[in-house]
Amino acid sequence: MRFIVFQISDEEQGYDLDLFCIPKHYAADLERVYIPHGLILDRTERLAREIMKDMGGHHIVALCVLKGGYKFFADLLDYIKALNRNSDRSIPMTVDFIRLKSYCNDQSTGEIKVIGGDDLSTLTGKDIIDTGKTMKTLLELLKQYNPKMVKVASLLVKRTPRSVGYRPDFVGFEIPDKFVVGYALDYNEYFRDLNHICVISETGKEKYKA
Ligand code: HPA
Ligand code: MG
Repeated sequence: MRFIVFQISDEEQGYDLDLFCIPKHYAADLERVYIPHGLILDRTERLAREIMKDMGGHHIVALCVLKGGYKFFADLLDYIKALNRNSDRSIPMTVDFIRLKSYCNDQSTGEIKVIGGDDLSTLTGKDIIDTGKTMKTLLELLKQYNPKMVKVASLLVKRTPRSVGYRPDFVGFEIPDKFVVGYALDYNEYFRDLNHICVISETGKEKYKA
């Protein structure tokens, strides 16, 4: 089943930083607020509903892809838990975590490091699908555990000519080919401590360059 896509157009400029609350230490390092925190949460709530509808009665092992996926994963699971508490049908869930690393500055290194994860998995929560290479590698790795089913939920998917054509099962937002940070997404480990998804400024790129 295909769901309708929340597409953010190439023309989307986002919002002036002064319309929102931004930590002072990042004020000069960001260009615009791109996806406000409230919108991320509202969209995630709906994804939780779609996922529950799709999973039927299957027990879910929710696998969080760290570090960038931790905010999305935690909020998505909170919404799934709320549905489990408040509906006639509920699905048991266990959690696991895996850590992947492939980016330096705003570029993929082409090399993917995997740390952790020891359980078989059905639902994978990821922050962003850029080229899709990392996700393809992870799916290959998960095959070793013979899962009954693997479904991938990604908060963001980028429209990029570098894409290998991979599409996750559940997508929060489809975005233009921009480097974004915040809501656990980083630039060399910085900006994870930012609620909104933002576009980084040239000053920010310079300041936190590896
Ligand atoms: N931001 C942060 N991390 C990323 C991105 C991005 O836009 N694309 C791939 N990893
Ligand atoms: Mg990163």
